[in-house]
Amino acid sequence: MQRFRIREGLDVVVVEDDAGFASFAADQVCQLVQEKPDAVLGLATGSTPLGLYAELVKRYEAGLVDFSQVRTFNLDEYVGLDGDHPQSYRQYMRQHLFDKVNLRPENTHLPSGTATDLWAEAARYDALLKELGPIDLQILGIGENAHIAFNEPGTPFSSRTHVVDLTESTIEANSRFFASRDEVPRQAITMGIASILEARHVMLLAQGIKKAEAIRLSLEGQTTPEVPASALQTHPSVLVVVDKPAASQLTILR
Ligand code: GLP
Repeated sequence: MQRFRIREGLDVVVVEDDAGFASFAADQVCQLVQEKPDAVLGLATGSTPLGLYAELVKRYEAGLVDFSQVRTFNLDEYVGLDGDHPQSYRQYMRQHLFDKVNLRPENTHLPSGTATDLWAEAARYDALLKELGPIDLQILGIGENAHIAFNEPGTPFSSRTHVVDLTESTIEANSRFFASRDEVPRQAITMGIASILEARHVMLLAQGIKKAEAIRLSLEGQTTPEVPASALQTHPSVLVVVDKPAASQLTILR
């Protein structure tokens, strides 16, 4: 494992393999929960955090971490999929974490993708975040186009929870989780960039060569809404956990 500082508050940790990746990320979560048993965690979906969630389940089963007072907020949900739909993010979270540790169901929050008034749902989610937040540690993945949550390129950094049209590239990338591309929802409800930036600490996770360009642009490029994750350059406490392929285009490593 190698650690680099891009600048004060923006550190990059390059891990050797999948096991090291999951275990280092889990260390950050467990350390926080040990120090602050009622911590608020911001959670992400996708393939990248799967190893982290599996590691957290393992540590919970070994009695090393207690989630009984932890509160969680997920970043996003697909519009039109209800929480029981197998491809909904609520179901993903239940399958990989919520049902396997002692998180209380009432302490786990996701926006609802089936609310009749989705904008009212977005406002409800923001109000809840304000009431229970700030998020102590926000876990983030990154899209190939540098989206964070479902904040696609062009999303203002001032955005709060909102309804978005997914880009063709995101629909394509996420179609691997569905029987066919046609089944991928065209919209999502997502926390905005301003909401994400309010977290006390952010841990951005990225694996694989497909993320290398997004990681380079986000950490070393210009801060611009065209690269949503570049907003993280303005945050005071970001830890980026990457494998070697995802880190391969960073000039700091050359
Ligand atoms: C999805 C999610 C994001 C996630 C991204 C990357 O679109 N909404 O929160 O970070 O994809 O996913 P993966 O980790 O599968 O590459």
